[in-house]
Amino acid sequence: MKSKVTVSKDFIVSKVDPRIYGSFVEHMGRCVYEGIYEPGHTNSDSKGFREDVKALVSELNVPLIRYPGGNFLSGYNWEDGVGEVSQRPKRLDLAWRTVETNEIGIHEFMGWAKTVNAEVNMAVNLGTRGVDAARNLVEYCNFAGDSEWSNLRRKNGQAEPFKIKTWCLGNEMDGPWQIGHKTAEEYGRLAEETAKAMKLVDDSIELVVCGSSNSKMPTFASWEAEVLEHAYEHVDYLSLHQYYGNHENNIENYLAQSIDMDRYIKSVAAICDYIKAKKRSDKQLNLSFDEWNIWYHSNEKDESNEPWQVAPHILEDVYNFEDALVLGCMLITLVKNADRVKIACLAQLVNVIAPIMTEKEGPAWKQTIFYPFMQLSTFGRGNVLLPQIDCPSYATDQFAEVPYLESVIIHNEEASELVIFAVNRSLDESLTLSVDARDFTDLTVVEFSQMAGFDIKEVNTKEKQAVKPSISNDYQITENTLEAVLAPLSWNVIRCK
Ligand code: AHR
Repeated sequence: MKSKVTVSKDFIVSKVDPRIYGSFVEHMGRCVYEGIYEPGHTNSDSKGFREDVKALVSELNVPLIRYPGGNFLSGYNWEDGVGEVSQRPKRLDLAWRTVETNEIGIHEFMGWAKTVNAEVNMAVNLGTRGVDAARNLVEYCNFAGDSEWSNLRRKNGQAEPFKIKTWCLGNEMDGPWQIGHKTAEEYGRLAEETAKAMKLVDDSIELVVCGSSNSKMPTFASWEAEVLEHAYEHVDYLSLHQYYGNHENNIENYLAQSIDMDRYIKSVAAICDYIKAKKRSDKQLNLSFDEWNIWYHSNEKDESNEPWQVAPHILEDVYNFEDALVLGCMLITLVKNADRVKIACLAQLVNVIAPIMTEKEGPAWKQTIFYPFMQLSTFGRGNVLLPQIDCPSYATDQFAEVPYLESVIIHNEEASELVIFAVNRSLDESLTLSVDARDFTDLTVVEFSQMAGFDIKEVNTKEKQAVKPSISNDYQITENTLEAVLAPLSWNVIRCK
């Protein structure tokens, strides 16, 4: 099979906002406790944070981390997590029916995020709380002057403001499972008023308002429109969340889920633009895909989970090779939409539906999905090029046309690299990818990295992490055309100079 892509460095979709390679740490399961934080572990620093986890997070190159939830957020009192640790309350977390010890709060998390070179995307509780707690939190974190909440921050050991730029206005407020769930009108009004107050405290912040919890929600589309009717002029991004799974064990259809993701993004962008037109506004609202991943392996096991544990083993999906390919397609899709998607958060970072796993008192290790994320996040910086693609396709029950090739090409001017990220969706045929990079002279390949040849159900474990990329030499270059062979069912990263 053959596929041809033509690109020019002058035809650009958008520059990638690095925050598209964000992730998410929620106080749930073993993401925080026994994940990033395990005092007493031989590899932990003086504050109890695991050095081995920090090293893997740094390798993932995550510039932004959403915190502290998720569903957890909607019952969270941020004040519980500041001040003397021994005095902090133990609370029931009603979202996951666990016990939250509050050993980790804002100061500890902000300190940890700095060590992995990430900014924090802080979320305010609009489930059980509202305008007052949110504006106090912004004052606590960001206010430089002399005031009650900023002075409390100083008393708690942080003289300089944290200067948190990106904030979420609640979490999945359309979901009936959400504590303090609201109708679109109730939430739209609350988001509008909360946004106003937060920006009055600090007008340099950016706000993400909640869209639907996923595109299958019965209120999808009307929720977005109604919320934006209220909040449009006061917020900067609208959120999207989506998780996929191979529930039917149909790999061809599973690999095509990124097409559904692409439609979802385009629909939400259209809703934003509809409200923009209706309001005769000059402002363009962008998107924050602040929860995305594959989530289904752990569903059955989690049904029998005992309540009121601290840091239980929940949502611990173990990912296989086909998941890595699907995750690669999803991340490529986000990047292809870089003109609208400015923020995205892989949910989550450690142990909970995560690329990084930890063993209590044991090692930290990489899941299969670690690699496509790490490679895009590391090498996918710069301008997304607008491609002209010629490619054969197949059909599934859900999708009439699924191209065998899923790809994005990025021109990193700083590193002088042209980087091709590609998945061959074919189960049994190689795809010869011809890239006509007509205005890139004397093209050479720096590295062609490929993940291929594994059993689709092969997983990594704490003992053995065999599912990972290796180097391919199956390419040739003639002037400014690259011809590379993408093995059947493969993830490919080709860095050219
Ligand atoms: O990431 C796991 C959960 O998925 C989050 O808490 C919630 O926002 C979503 O439903």
